[in-house]
Amino acid sequence: SGSSATPAQIPDAAVSRRLPGAIIIGVRKGGTRALLEMLNLHPEVEVAKAEIHYFNLDENFRRGLDWYRAQMPLTLPGQVTVEKTPGYFTAPLAPTRMWSANPAVKLLLIVRDPAERLVSDYTQVLHNRLQQNKPYQPLVELLLHRGRINPSYKALQRSLYHHHLARWLELFPREQIHIVDGEALIQDPFPELQKAERFLELPPRITPENFYFNTTKGFYCLLTAGHDKCLDDSKGRPHAPLSNKAFQKLCKYLREPNQIFFNMVGQTFDWC
Ligand code: A3P
Repeated sequence: SGSSATPAQIPDAAVSRRLPGAIIIGVRKGGTRALLEMLNLHPEVEVAKAEIHYFNLDENFRRGLDWYRAQMPLTLPGQVTVEKTPGYFTAPLAPTRMWSANPAVKLLLIVRDPAERLVSDYTQVLHNRLQQNKPYQPLVELLLHRGRINPSYKALQRSLYHHHLARWLELFPREQIHIVDGEALIQDPFPELQKAERFLELPPRITPENFYFNTTKGFYCLLTAGHDKCLDDSKGRPHAPLSNKAFQKLCKYLREPNQIFFNMVGQTFDWC
């Protein structure tokens, strides 16, 4: 995001692509795009706009750290580079790979009610399949098998936060992982951004005036230097239907995993 120095004052050598000081590792559909765009409001933050998928995909990881660095935005000394790839959180090899690249990297994890997350995840996959004219199954068929929760459904596995977080905590100290409350970010972004600024050891520069509630979008949008920006239509889509009965089964199934996650992070959330 914008720096106060004019280009003429900046020696060329000072401007370079740097490895991220912080990475938004997930969760998929947790509000990762919103968090990235909101952090980018800070003058000392520059973000990689596209998801890089370096630590999770072998074909990218093989390209090496110089390739990864080359995907980053230009920054000045003192600016923090941030990238987001929600696939990192659930990728088995991502924690060790990330630790080896930079054991001091700060991790941001934005979480959301895992039941809502699952429905949002399904909705995104459904949308992509419809666009590509591919066949699809109704959510209930994937979620339930003979009336019981199907534990091998991928979107359900991605909602077992404790399972994935355990692998990160084998390497990274708890203090190096900041949990952002995705529901709180939707309701009122500013307090969550203040906490993130503190975690990133940045001076407070984001203000409540950077956000306004857009009644058409039904979400907060961003304001900087007279420009306003909402996330695109793929964010905040109506969710695919699921019967209340099936949703309640899902909630019941998630109760214990959620409790384990709360104990792990030392924080509770108001989930179903
Ligand atoms: P839904 O589409 O299920 O509502 P991600 O960027 O990780 O894919 O997350 C997408 C989710 O971000 C959306 O899920 C939406 O609820 C949430 N979100 C949070 N803040 C938002 C904002 N200001 N505008 C749009 N979506 C936002």
